[in-house]
Amino acid sequence: MSFSSYQLNSLEAYRKAYQESLRDPEGFWAAIASDFLWHQKWDQVLEWNFREPKIQWFRGAKMNITENCLDRHLDTQGDQPAIIWEPNDPKEPHRTLSYRQLLEEVCRFARVLGKNGVRKGDRVCIYMGMIPELAIAVLACARIGAIHSVVFGGFSAQSIADRIQDASCSHVITCDGAFRGARDIPLKSVIDDALTQCNTVKKVIVCRRTKTPVSMIQGRDVWLEDELEKLDRSASFPPAESMDAEDPLFILYTSGSTGKPKGVVHTCAGYMIYTNYTFVNVFQYKPGQVYFCTADIGWVTGHSYIVYGPLSAGATTLMFEGIPTFPDAGRLWEIVDKFRVDTIYTAPTAIRSLMAHGEAPLRNKDLGSLKVLGTVGEPINEEAWQWYHEKIGKGKCPIVDTWWQTETGGIMISPIAGLTPEKPSFATLPLPGIQPAIMDEKGKELQGNGVSGNLCIKFPWPGMIRTTYGDHERCRKNYFEAYPGYYFTGDGCLRDKDGYYRITGRVDDVLNVSGHRIGTAEVENAINMHTDVVESAVVGFPHPIKGQGIYAYVICHHQVKEEMTRKNILETVTRVIGSIAKPDKIQFVSGLPKTRSGKIMRRILRKIAEGEMNNLGDTTTLLDPSVVDEIKKGKL
Ligand code: PRX
Repeated sequence: MSFSSYQLNSLEAYRKAYQESLRDPEGFWAAIASDFLWHQKWDQVLEWNFREPKIQWFRGAKMNITENCLDRHLDTQGDQPAIIWEPNDPKEPHRTLSYRQLLEEVCRFARVLGKNGVRKGDRVCIYMGMIPELAIAVLACARIGAIHSVVFGGFSAQSIADRIQDASCSHVITCDGAFRGARDIPLKSVIDDALTQCNTVKKVIVCRRTKTPVSMIQGRDVWLEDELEKLDRSASFPPAESMDAEDPLFILYTSGSTGKPKGVVHTCAGYMIYTNYTFVNVFQYKPGQVYFCTADIGWVTGHSYIVYGPLSAGATTLMFEGIPTFPDAGRLWEIVDKFRVDTIYTAPTAIRSLMAHGEAPLRNKDLGSLKVLGTVGEPINEEAWQWYHEKIGKGKCPIVDTWWQTETGGIMISPIAGLTPEKPSFATLPLPGIQPAIMDEKGKELQGNGVSGNLCIKFPWPGMIRTTYGDHERCRKNYFEAYPGYYFTGDGCLRDKDGYYRITGRVDDVLNVSGHRIGTAEVENAINMHTDVVESAVVGFPHPIKGQGIYAYVICHHQVKEEMTRKNILETVTRVIGSIAKPDKIQFVSGLPKTRSGKIMRRILRKIAEGEMNNLGDTTTLLDPSVVDEIKKGKL
């Protein structure tokens, strides 16, 4: 296995690697990069400044990420499973694609893309359910140098249209529909709605999955299976496109504190090396193991740790179409037993929701194959950590609580499975190459242990964000302005007496609902579109399963029938963003607590939503303090 050369095997080895990465970051990453396939080597490992920002890794190098994910494993493990796919319905047979088969499928799909006019540098929007063709579509884009922009299958037509327009996508790849639990989601018809607003899209390639009737527009829409059928079977595969190390690989939209999602751009070489290195080390993957990440490829976790990280390491990655509670809350454990899964990587919200189903779904489950458990996406509370440890890991599996972000490309702070001594609810230590800094409110870096503040990173790593698509200034402002010379994560953090990091949550106006990032401004914009609404303010509150719930305070034009308006607002939010952004609570109010300059005092609203009524802090700067009493009285 080519990765064994840099797989850490002791705590001591980790500490040594960490010191080495501080002493000589360029030498550290160059040594790892030398294990990959390059068409041409780099002439400079790193050039950077955080002012503009400008970050370039392996400048001058040429490569293709799919050759590193597929071709290079053929000699040693061409017949080993690359992807195991478990369908939504347990009665439907699973599918296995060996590395050889996956490469073939990717090349065939890449030719379909080429024949339909997709060229290097074009942006392709992918809106599909969790079927193997989604991974194949992503890799096919990368094969020919097209930039994929995957949009999670739960987003609304409006959200898709915004994303397609922002990146001027020329093509869309979708499915007739997607199976998710008991539901059948009509993806193609959502795309049809979205495309009424998008004039850059020339072709839509549709993969058949649910056999839901769809309308196909002549000249624009084609069936994937027809296009594959038309290919000349005897033709040899075209070579993979030779990409510059710093060419964009993909765009992935994520919420920030303003209303409009940002298109986070990752590039080819640095992202590849970073996802590979972190996959191999954090999970301590061993050849032949089955690795199961329960995320959706529509989120960054799926990009990095279903597709690129595992495949670049020659691992067997298990992809699951369904949801943890269908047909019952034992489904994940059934899958673990069915495929003798070695590693499971999931979100605290999934753990909490399964915990709430009690012990019954665990009856008759062996789970003896599990060796490593992982979590991602939000802080894990101690109770959920212990349940995961005892009931799933039977007390014998390390848990890696991995902290990272869409912008970081891969895991940043995390235990290394089995090597780093754990502490529940701590992401523990930074991975080699990662230099965290904790800042106080004056912007000064806090030294030593036993400190808390805002989390920054002070040196580049290969997987980091390069820009926000089409708006570099936005990238600078968002991440590099608050603390000059540092990348600002938007998270609060503490470093305890042992130097262990615990992430305490967002410090900006971004919520983390079931591990998904949602900007409060985005939800407010959606609510405000409802004709009865004058103004709204959205904050988070602690939610036993989702981690954070969404609490909306809404002012309406006139006396409304509350139940009816509440229902309509929920529909509006679903239509504008998607059901993931639906508020859990909507409180109708006659005013919002504002300062004299008209700024909403969210701190107060947050406290009320959290139930901390008697501890609202200073309210003397409010224009009209009486609204606070009214809001307190009406709290849901
Ligand atoms: O607040 C942190 C939280 O999720 C945010 C990143 O969200 P997103 O870009 O959607 O990526 C999620 C998957 C990587 C972070 O700013 N977060 C992520 N992992 C953890 C976490 N909070 C605490 N502990 C974690 N392990």
